[in-house]
Amino acid sequence: MLMVDIIRKKRDGGSLTKEEIEFFINGYVKGEIPDYQVSALMMAIFFKGMNDEETGNLTLAMLHSGEKLDLSSIKGFKVDKHSTGGVGDKTSLVLTPMVAACNVPVAKMSGRGLGHTGGTIDKLESFKGFSTAISNEQFINNVNTVGISIMGQTKDLAPADKLLYALRDVTATVDNMSLIASSIMSKKLAAGADGIVLDVKSGSGAFMKNDRDAFELAEKMVAIGKHSGVKTMAVISDMDQPLGRAVGNAIEVREAIDTLYGRGPEDLKELCLTLGSYMVSFAKNVTPDEARSMLHEVLENKKALDKLADFIEAQGGDRNDVYNPDNLPKASKTIEFKADRDWYVSSIMSEDIGTASLLLGGGRRSKEDVIDLSVGIYLNKKVGEKCSKGECIATLYGNDDGKLSEGLERLRKAYDFSDTPVETSKLIKGIVD
Ligand code: URA
Repeated sequence: MLMVDIIRKKRDGGSLTKEEIEFFINGYVKGEIPDYQVSALMMAIFFKGMNDEETGNLTLAMLHSGEKLDLSSIKGFKVDKHSTGGVGDKTSLVLTPMVAACNVPVAKMSGRGLGHTGGTIDKLESFKGFSTAISNEQFINNVNTVGISIMGQTKDLAPADKLLYALRDVTATVDNMSLIASSIMSKKLAAGADGIVLDVKSGSGAFMKNDRDAFELAEKMVAIGKHSGVKTMAVISDMDQPLGRAVGNAIEVREAIDTLYGRGPEDLKELCLTLGSYMVSFAKNVTPDEARSMLHEVLENKKALDKLADFIEAQGGDRNDVYNPDNLPKASKTIEFKADRDWYVSSIMSEDIGTASLLLGGGRRSKEDVIDLSVGIYLNKKVGEKCSKGECIATLYGNDDGKLSEGLERLRKAYDFSDTPVETSKLIKGIVD
């Protein structure tokens, strides 16, 4: 078989066979097929799409490109959660300690930033000394002792996804339904949890720009999960504006900690309660409403906050940073985007906000880039909010004047205004189970 024939077949709109998909996945993982040919195939898939059979075969080929984690030595029903990616999406940092504080073991595999969206691992690395590069044994041991562990994708778990994820990030081939579904589900199935709750984002900051596509992606992923015997459901949530007000890395960690202290943004708290109620109800056989009350309680009595500190400490960080978030990386310069008249924010193009953060240094321009954890954006005004002339709409935090002005230029483009009040979209758009 020749890789060039597979690229040509997809370029011309053909459907790839199971054997062709296995050939390019196995060849890429073994280093026998170069990045440039796989990039070309990703672009062909981006334009021509894949049918359900191809998507299922791609998921299985990626899953079988490595080993499957055996979590049987962890007592209880293990749940995992995954978001399709958004801007300001620090949900996992708040949600996982909440769920673990309800005595539900959380064994989660996370990723780094992708395209204009941020990644949980990059954010967690804001805690000095913290590492997600842990062995399978340490991962299992931490879930058994602390109740929660988050690991990065090791070279042995769905290695095909690890390679493709990094390649797609820098070749503008992320936002394709089959590539997203196979990427997420191959690594989630490899991570071995008993239940998976998916947060499928819809809107200007998501890879799926409208609800119809978001529901279709959710249905594809839920079907793949169920077909593999894993309890799977999806929540479709709004990404027409960033979640919360902080966008970046350390700045998002601060907002997550604020939320665990009970003073975070309402949309973030509500999304965590919704996703968490399904995770806890999966594991404990209670109704989502009963699970929600349990989650409220661990927020109020600060057990979830303490669980975050336990988790940070168990993976090499300093638990005191959770109680003193001023210890986290901070940028040296700020600039403000101010209102030039009185009006209401009518929309925020979230993808541009994510890109503005990337331009400040908070994301990767190429595979090798090291990101600056201290930079980011704070949205003082969100959709529907009034701003008076001279008031600050958003604050940019950076360390380099050139990058700050590039970021500001992109941020200005993201905002739109209106003379009259504007309605905001619904946060939770639906459930697929
Ligand atoms: N998240 C993933 O893990 N993979 C994708 O392709 C998109 C979002």
